[in-house]
This record gives sequence, C-alpha cells and structure tokens, in this order.
Amino acid sequence: MTQAPAADMKSLAKHEFETWADSYDRSLLNHFMFRPSYAAFMEEIGGWYEVHRRPFRVLDIGCGTGTLAEWLAGSSWPVRVVGMDYAEAMCREASAKAGRNGQGRRTDPARFATGDSEHLPFDAGSFDIVTCSNSFHHYPDQQAVVNDMRRVLKPDGRLILIDGFRDNIIGWVTFDVIVGRVESNVYHAPWSAIHNYFRSAGFSSIRQRKLNLWFPLLVTVGDAAQ
Ligand SMILES: C[S@@+](CC[C@H](N)C(=O)[O-])C[C@H]1O[C@@H](n2cnc3c(N)ncnc32)[C@H](O)[C@@H]1O
Repeated sequence: MTQAPAADMKSLAKHEFETWADSYDRSLLNHFMFRPSYAAFMEEIGGWYEVHRRPFRVLDIGCGTGTLAEWLAGSSWPVRVVGMDYAEAMCREASAKAGRNGQGRRTDPARFATGDSEHLPFDAGSFDIVTCSNSFHHYPDQQAVVNDMRRVLKPDGRLILIDGFRDNIIGWVTFDVIVGRVESNVYHAPWSAIHNYFRSAGFSSIRQRKLNLWFPLLVTVGDAAQ
C-alpha cells in the first residue's frame, strides 16, 4: 500500500479537524455520510444487544463531535460510551454537546478523551463494542489500529468499522479522486484489504456490506470471539 509518511497523515488530519470542529455538525456530509453511518451502527449494536442482553460499554474511535454517543444516549439500551479523537476541538464539541443533551437523562454521560487510534489508552478487554466511522482513512498504520481495537475488546465483543467504499466507480471517484484531493494524504483501503486486516487481527464472523448509492460506505463487522 502506498501512503504518505505517517507524521504527515496525522498532522494533516489534526489540522483539518481542529479547524472544522465548530461547523462540523452543520456540514452537508451529515446527510450523505455521517448520519447513515450512525444508523448502521445503531442497527449493528442492536443486533449485538439482542444476543447479549447486558449493560455494555462502547468505545467510539475518531468520534468527532460525539453524535453517535448522543444517539446511543437516546436509546433504551444500558450503554456507557467513551469517545476518543485525535483533535482536541472535536472532543471539546462532543463534551459540550453531551453536557447540553444529558440533563435529566438516566444514563451516564459519555466521556470524551483526546488520543491516537494507534495507541489506545485503555486496558485489554475494556469494551463490549468498538465503533469507528469515516476516520479510518486517516490512519497511517491501519493494521496496527485494527489489532489494538481487538485488544481492547472483551472476548465476546464486536468491532464495527465504517469508511468510504472505493471499490466501484462512484466510490473511486468520490473517495480516491475527490476526497483524496481535498483531504490529501488519506488512504481508503479496498474492501478486501479491510477484510484481511480483520482476519489478521483475529476477528471471526467477518461480514461486509455497502451503504448508499452516492457517497457509498463500507460497513465491516467482526466478532472478537474465536
Ligand atoms: C470525518 S470525522 C468522523 C467523525 C465521526 N466518527 C463521524 O462519522 O461523523 C474523522 C475524525 O477522525 C479523527 N481522527 C483522525 N485521525 C485520527 C487518529 N489517528 N486517531 C483518532 N482520531 C483520528 C478526526 O480528528 C475526526 O474527528
């Protein structure tokens, strides 16, 4: 895989999202990409909860302004959420939003922390579910991130990863040509590479599906259980 130096990718991502945090929730991309991603997470998390039926913890990596945490707080599930993002401004927005929306709710408010997806600051087996949407293409060492995602999952935990689907002509133009030019130094891995990352990290029951005609997204789900 051809990628820019890791330090460049990370500093570009940091700069992009420190700057974008204020207006992120008003972006048109919410309609086309971000909300469909949260809806897919809710469906997959619901499927996991139907089977396990116990209080659970979610780690949302590259959490942005914390909208998934907001959706989860509005559900009837006994869930606690930790969001982590490389950009401090995104975490600040997320914490402020959780504070505004959390009043009167019975669930614990979500917590947000700044951090790098390649070095997750959590003990092994800390989470039931790890989510990551529209962020993976900023990671220079994608296999290392998937390995660490598995490390922090409980043995019956689940990873749900969503990012641009670039394996048809619409996806290739959108993500490799347009997004690649706008964001620069990003890498949208093919679906087969993402499947391999999951398999190499030791995930089982790996399944993949495409969302959306325009702005197509790839949802990859894997279970930590062997
Ligand atoms: C397009 S936003 C996606 C936010 C949210 N998950 C969503 O779907 O709306 C990408 C996020 O990934 C974060 N990010 C980029 N590189 C990261 C890294 N190495 N570790 C953690 N977060 C990172 C950015 O700061 C940004 O908030």
